Amino acid sequence: MSLHQALLILHLFSVAVVMGVGISNLISFRVQRKLEGEAAKGVAKAREATLIYSDIFVMVLVAAGLGLLWQRGGAGGLNAWFHVKMAAVAVWLACFVAMRIFIARFLHNQDAALMPRIKLLAHVAITGAMVALVSAVLAFAG
Ligand code: HEM
Repeated sequence: MSLHQALLILHLFSVAVVMGVGISNLISFRVQRKLEGEAAKGVAKAREATLIYSDIFVMVLVAAGLGLLWQRGGAGGLNAWFHVKMAAVAVWLACFVAMRIFIARFLHNQDAALMPRIKLLAHVAITGAMVALVSAVLAFAG
C-alpha cells in the first residue's frame, strides 16, 4: 500500500465517522424532543458518548487531508472546486470547534439555553461537511 493510498483511506474513513456521528446526533436531538425523564437522559448520554469519536476523527481527517495536500505538492494546479472545498472545510471546522466549546460548557453547567446554539452549529457543520464532500469529488475524481 502506498502512502497516498494509506492517507486517502484514513481521510475517507474519517469523513465517514465524522459525518455518521454528526447525522446520528441530529437524529438523537429529534428523538429526544419526544421523550422525558430517564429516557431523555439516556438519549443525551448516548450522544455524549460519541464526542470522543468525533474529536479523534476530526483531527485524523484534517491531518490526513493536509498529508494528501503535501503529497500533491500543495494546491497549485487544483481547480476551483478545491477552493470551494476548503471554504466549506473552514465553515465545518469553525462550527465544530464552536459547538464543542458550547457542549463542554453545557456539560459543565447543564445550561439548557445553550442547546439551541449547539443544535444550530451541528446543522451548519454537517452542511459544510456535505459541501466539502461533493466539491472534493468534483475537484479530484476527474
Ligand atoms: C483540512 C482539511 C482537508 C484537506 C486539506 C483535504 C485535502 C484533500 C486532498 C488533497 C484530497 C485528494 C486526495 C487524492 O490525492 O486523491 C482529498 C480528497 C478527498 N477529501 Fe479532503 N481534505 C480536507 C477535508 C475534507 C473534509 C472535511 C471532507 C468531507 C467531509 C473531505 C472529503 C474528501 C473526499 C470525499 C475526497 C476524495 C475525492 C476523490 O478522490 O474522489 N475532505 N482531500
